[in-house]
Amino acid sequence: MKYAFELKSVKRYYGKIKALDGVTLKAEEGKIYGMLGPNGAGKSTIVKILSTLIEPTSGIAKVNGIDVAKDPSSVRNAIGLAGQFAAVDDFLTGRENIQMVGQLYGLKGSVAKQRADEILEKLGLQDSADRQVKTYSGGMRRRLDLGSSLVGRPKILFLDEPTTGLDPRTRKDLWEIIRNLAREGTSILLTTQYLEEADELADMIAVIDYGKLIAEGTSSQLKSKLGGDMVEFELKNKFDFNKALLSVEKFCNQNRQADEAELTIKIPVKNSAEDLLTVTKMIDDSGIKPTNISLHKPTLDDVFLSLTGKKPQIEEQKKPRRGKH
Ligand SMILES: Nc1ncnc2c1ncn2[C@@H]1O[C@H](COP(=O)(O)OP(=O)(O)OP(=O)(O)O)[C@@H](O)[C@H]1O
Ligand SMILES: [Mg+2]
Repeated sequence: MKYAFELKSVKRYYGKIKALDGVTLKAEEGKIYGMLGPNGAGKSTIVKILSTLIEPTSGIAKVNGIDVAKDPSSVRNAIGLAGQFAAVDDFLTGRENIQMVGQLYGLKGSVAKQRADEILEKLGLQDSADRQVKTYSGGMRRRLDLGSSLVGRPKILFLDEPTTGLDPRTRKDLWEIIRNLAREGTSILLTTQYLEEADELADMIAVIDYGKLIAEGTSSQLKSKLGGDMVEFELKNKFDFNKALLSVEKFCNQNRQADEAELTIKIPVKNSAEDLLTVTKMIDDSGIKPTNISLHKPTLDDVFLSLTGKKPQIEEQKKPRRGKH
């Protein structure tokens, strides 16, 4: 079977920094493959390898069945790339930007013009097409950048954090565009730091952290890794938190998420109603009264926490993770 792209034991060092530590994965054609990971996890490194911008230190990367190290130009013919930072020319208009990419692809003037019209319409940029890009909002720039990656009619599209930093509404507009591209048959690799985004868009999700693939599956497979539902207790103070934690130890045998800052304890349960009563009784028996008790389906956030012991970092909390491993 031919995959849209695949990695086999791929390692990548930047000097002494190990950005990828043996990643193996396969993405089916025509699907959205989501790659979820916090800052510094190695997402962009994977995108750069697959789009032939850098080579793996070891291991094999293939796109459209072609080894990126052996035949990078054939790979480039099959792909489109919208990198993490929009690469558009501020002094040109939106239309000129797309037409310029068309010329780089060797399209004739009239064809480049027609392709630009099609793309601008698809991305909802027709009304601002003749304005200089420096007057565009962040969301419009991202759309234009995505548009540039479509000029060559790629079979496979790499989108590196296409929605990071955008407001929720602009993000949803982009989701719709991405979904439509997948519906038209484009294979898509989408990296993201947003659990909600992977959950919403991706047919398959890879979770990466510190250059390693720590889980792969559909959103529901990842969620079911945690068993059934989650019971969540909120406690009044640190004393209650610690005591409640001790009292449920026998039940969950460390398989729980305790957040000391938030004073919450989440416990995965198999038999929701019965187990809810059991753990609640255990806490009650220790003389602690939680301020809130709730039962909910696990989120991808829960999955990440249970896989890594931490919440994924979000953009606002950006911290360098360089050189820790
Ligand atoms: N050119 C470089 N030189 C040195 N180290 C690098 C370079 N590019 C990336 N790294 C390091 O490699 C690791 C992986 O980086 P990468 O950019 O792939 O992460 P990422 O998952 O894309 O993160 P982000 O969400 O912040 O974009 C990090 O530790 C990063 O600091
Ligand atoms: Mg990145």
